[in-house]
Amino acid sequence: MLGHTRGKRSPVTCALKCDNACSKAVCNTSSNGYFRDIASAEFSRRSALGVGAAGALIAVGGGGTAAAAELPAQRNRRGRLAFEAIKPVDKEADVFDVPEGYEWAPLLRWGDPLFNQSPEFDFDHQTPRAQALQFGYNNDYTDIIRSRNGKKGVLVCNHEYVNPEIMFPAAPANAAEERQRRNIFRKAVGLSVVELKRRDRGQPWDYVRGAHKNRRITLDTEFELTGPAAGSDLLKTKRDRRGRFVEGTLGNCSGGTTPWGTILSGEENFNGFFRTNGTSAEDKRYGLENKATGMGWELEDPRFDARSEAFANEPHRFGYIVEIDPENPNSTPVKHTSLGRFKHEGANVIVADNGHVVAYMGDDERFDYLYKFVSKRKYRKNDRRHNMTLLTEGDLYVARFSGTSDGEIDGSGDVPSDGAFDGSGQWIPLVQDGKSRVKGMGVEQVLVFTRLAADEVGATKMDRCEDVEPSLASGKIYVACTNNSNRGVGANAKPDEANPRTENRDGHIVEITERRGDHTSTRFNWDLLMLCGDPAQGDATYFSGFPADQVSPISCPDNVAFDSEGNLWISTDGAPDGIGYNDGLFKVTVDGKDRGKVEQFLSVPRDAETCGPVIHDDESMVYVAVQHPGEEGSATEIRSYFPDYVPSEARPAAGEVRAPRPSIVQVYATK
Ligand code: FEO
Ligand code: CA
Ligand code: CA
Repeated sequence: MLGHTRGKRSPVTCALKCDNACSKAVCNTSSNGYFRDIASAEFSRRSALGVGAAGALIAVGGGGTAAAAELPAQRNRRGRLAFEAIKPVDKEADVFDVPEGYEWAPLLRWGDPLFNQSPEFDFDHQTPRAQALQFGYNNDYTDIIRSRNGKKGVLVCNHEYVNPEIMFPAAPANAAEERQRRNIFRKAVGLSVVELKRRDRGQPWDYVRGAHKNRRITLDTEFELTGPAAGSDLLKTKRDRRGRFVEGTLGNCSGGTTPWGTILSGEENFNGFFRTNGTSAEDKRYGLENKATGMGWELEDPRFDARSEAFANEPHRFGYIVEIDPENPNSTPVKHTSLGRFKHEGANVIVADNGHVVAYMGDDERFDYLYKFVSKRKYRKNDRRHNMTLLTEGDLYVARFSGTSDGEIDGSGDVPSDGAFDGSGQWIPLVQDGKSRVKGMGVEQVLVFTRLAADEVGATKMDRCEDVEPSLASGKIYVACTNNSNRGVGANAKPDEANPRTENRDGHIVEITERRGDHTSTRFNWDLLMLCGDPAQGDATYFSGFPADQVSPISCPDNVAFDSEGNLWISTDGAPDGIGYNDGLFKVTVDGKDRGKVEQFLSVPRDAETCGPVIHDDESMVYVAVQHPGEEGSATEIRSYFPDYVPSEARPAAGEVRAPRPSIVQVYATK
């Protein structure tokens, strides 16, 4: 794959989405030991659920991809969203595939006009003004909040980044056109809020152009900083001398919907948008460098050139969890410093039994950490105004894992002799009761340079935590570790029981149970639900004892969601380079005799990743955000015609789009 190491994303995604993070030196060079070096003070061996006889769990060898393609279809009779698993789709296929009995249709596409005054999408003549009034590019986190009768909805969606090579009919002709495109990109990222309507439950939606709640949030929308670091000297710039307001949001990846109906969005790969001196320990730890950026915004907006004293702090104003209120299109969105600054994948909130709210969060970089936030104040039912303040003040923790089978983990993925990858863990405080718990750092420093704070306290280096989400059915927390091809390579951290494979190409899922079921506890137990991969290709996989020859092959778990029965749904990003199939959406049974069973529900087109799954099994509907379809192509080499599929060799008719369009897709039962 173009000189690519397996287990990484396509070269285009790497360059545009995360500024080639994987090809660079690992950011986390802290001597912070992997967990077998750390004495576990307290240890309670947790019985492994649904695991068969020790050592009988791995199916190695097999017949390669053909065998996987012949996988017997498993009729899924449990649950209201009944389906037979689809077969995996070859990575060069430009198709969107769903199970028999289901249909799909785009709900919103890049460029769809959202307001009455929005210009229609015109691929040949895009402008910044038009883009600001249209659905953005590269949709990621998505949720749909339904009205009581199910006939109205509000969709909220993140737009993570752009693909300049395929957004225009040709390369820019001159400097003026380059400048115009830079301004289009500013308007294509951020978030969208869009009202929906339909005839009835279970029916596909239409979006409502010009609806009251419709909104675009872009790089030019004002955000207010909240929490202890708001107003800090570390956040002041020439344009914001009080350190309180930030223009825009960047790298909005995954997110979560709060119990009070707001949307949280993670600012993830913000570093690639700034040019800095690149010499400080802080810059290095966050991957900030002294080089021209991919977007080139620093050429005309000085705040993206942080080499100057005036804007040295501008990068400190990105990397947060942001919260927006989709009900009020005039509200000022906020950035919560209490939840720390790192490459936030997203955040998911649960109300603990004692009323405090707890947010679980991953830092998506190789060898970075898992975090949780516990609010100081308590949730109040039906007091939205109060609840919208809960994320402004509280305690921030980072996770340290210990295993039961230290000494047995050799990087092969073999199940330890006690029959499980499992152990206990601690949430180590970084900020508690308003005070820093990190030696040599104040609260503001901990919240702005959170990675460096976590390095100091012995957090466990993880294989890229993407979505982290508690199940409302069981209270267990699921962590998607997407992959880490550097695990155990060279001087990098060795495999440990929570990250047990060397050169972890296909990723795994960690399952956490808070001690006594208390989400505010500082102790937890954990095990691995699965080690992903394709058993038919000989990958060392683990599915909690479920027969490996009866699962859909799965690689690079990214976003997670639950259905109403507590089944875990996983969307993937990177399967083409992992196991040679297009990315997709998978249902995973987590309880009972079928624990560990993986069934593929849909497959996205060529070069795309699957994002934002929304599972409305009560009406047999599923939604996904299809991000960067066809992104390895160019203006002249179109690799995907998703979602409209109008290939055209000749000069296309007016209005015909000759590029893939990232889109939100709705899947519904035909019966
Ligand atoms: Fe934007 Fe961690 O994926
Ligand atoms: Ca073990
Ligand atoms: Ca992601």
